[in-house]
Amino acid sequence: MKSTSLVLLIALIVSYPFGCTSVKTYPVSEPGRDPSEYVHQSPQAMVTTAHPAATFAGLSMLKQGGNAIDAATAISFALSVVRPQSTGIGGGGFMLYYNKGKDQVVAYDFRERAPASATKAMFLDEKGTPKDFIYEGHVLPNASQNGHLAAGVPGLVKGLVETHAKHGKLPLKVVMAPAIKLAKDGFEIYTHLADSISRRAKVLAAFPDSRRIFLKPSGEPRKAGEKLVQDELAGTLTLISELGVRGFYEGVTAQKIVQEMKRGKGLISLNDLKQYTVKERQPVIGTYRGYKIASMPPPSSGGVHIIQMLNMLEPFNFDKLDHNSPEAVHLITEVMRRAFADRANFLGDPDFVKIPIKGLISKAYAKKRMSNFSDQHASSSTKLGAGNPIGYESDSTTHFSVVDQLGNAVSSTQTINGGFGSGVVVQGTGIVLNNEMDDFSIKPGVPNLFGLVGNEANAIAARKTMLSSMSPTLVFDNLGRLDLVVGSPGGPRIINATLQVIINHIDFKLPLDKAVMAYRFHHQWLPDVLFIEADGFSESDLKTLKELGHSVEVRGTVGLVQAIARSGRKGWIGVADSRDNGYAAGF
Ligand code: DON
Repeated sequence: MKSTSLVLLIALIVSYPFGCTSVKTYPVSEPGRDPSEYVHQSPQAMVTTAHPAATFAGLSMLKQGGNAIDAATAISFALSVVRPQSTGIGGGGFMLYYNKGKDQVVAYDFRERAPASATKAMFLDEKGTPKDFIYEGHVLPNASQNGHLAAGVPGLVKGLVETHAKHGKLPLKVVMAPAIKLAKDGFEIYTHLADSISRRAKVLAAFPDSRRIFLKPSGEPRKAGEKLVQDELAGTLTLISELGVRGFYEGVTAQKIVQEMKRGKGLISLNDLKQYTVKERQPVIGTYRGYKIASMPPPSSGGVHIIQMLNMLEPFNFDKLDHNSPEAVHLITEVMRRAFADRANFLGDPDFVKIPIKGLISKAYAKKRMSNFSDQHASSSTKLGAGNPIGYESDSTTHFSVVDQLGNAVSSTQTINGGFGSGVVVQGTGIVLNNEMDDFSIKPGVPNLFGLVGNEANAIAARKTMLSSMSPTLVFDNLGRLDLVVGSPGGPRIINATLQVIINHIDFKLPLDKAVMAYRFHHQWLPDVLFIEADGFSESDLKTLKELGHSVEVRGTVGLVQAIARSGRKGWIGVADSRDNGYAAGF
């Protein structure tokens, strides 16, 4: 290490958690990790992902002359192996790709879709209550969350292979090689993965391959420090690297998926797999204080509501607000409450329902929506309800960010939904199947895994895409230059985590490490609760928020952000969130 970077590193560690302003930041939560691995500055290219091996897979593609898409493909397949609790080839995702040469942003939707035989009430019993999933004597609660019926038709492999064929430079076999090696040779189980196995052990125990791969022969969850080898997954990945999409959607892999469905009375058929299509969509675009925001359009709700919330915040003067002060938290919470009320009412698959996107992201609607805001007290979510935007137009997850040496960028969020998705590993393939069907509203008013409620716009229908919160986002400065690549996992918390990083960056002008690692909060309209991260807020600030009428609760983390920002003349700064096992690196 050069002496200048050593000095920088020491300064960083000494100031950790990033003490140069009064902003309180989240400590590194993965034991044994060096804080410097989470923050990196590089002149040309940058990668930040939720696992060191995935970051190095992406970086090695860039070093071999590949571009941002080659790196993104290598990262995605590697994450499929090292974050089986979060993502995988049995899941789906979204990707924003910025092509610098064309100065163009394209959105790719390779999210799971409902099988052709899916029906609106498929998760309800005769009395209209949510059904359990029963499999070989195991009774698992909520069939939309556990077991075969919970799985939507996976889109990840088609999304990656097709975007790679269109934009990548290196052969598919080269970009998939790191993932295959990680699956074959194995990797060390880290604390977050071990915790996740332990939380889902009961469900994993119900399915033979899930049990064999993630639990010990004794039935105990595998522990941190043990090696996790996934031979069958290596085999499936090898088939994909040789045959492309046919290695998954047809032939032996497809047959094994359908056999697995038969075992557990799931719905995915050979036709569902064969007919799966990736959708190229126009990103949703907004402006905020001279910046341009490009984000994921429906079937994600993320982009629409991030822009809507920024619009609601734009008239307020942040110079007078301290970061995470009760006044700032109150204002931003009220904005979240309003956006999420609209989410529950208006958002769904744009190929099935009309969404008033233009209305929702208009500055005029934002003004109207905030007309009943008071800085003296919290609104009531029940009284507030959804707004009336004008005009219908015709028309557990991981995030990573990449900027390549040509200035192209990828912001992508990928998921199997809850921890280990449905819990089902397709026998003989190593594929962990998603439980994305739970992102539909299985019945109006019935909360999903994330406590979200919805209505008709997000009801289940054959081949429909379930509503998402995943919000891969790109921000451009007033000169049109790429300024920020950002996104997060965390269900609905994704939207608010991404929003807070953007505000921290633009309004509070925090360096990116602080912008990402500052403590966060979350409100999603219903339940009418302001969730905060433990230790992030002082007793007296919490008292003020309660006096304003907020019902405050400490619960978990709000997102795990991976972000890259332009850094003056020095190139790029990459930041992996200290809340998890991420790694930022570049050259
Ligand atoms: O698409 C969505 O909004 C969810 N399936 C994402 C799930 C998620 O982020 C889980 N992470 N904690």
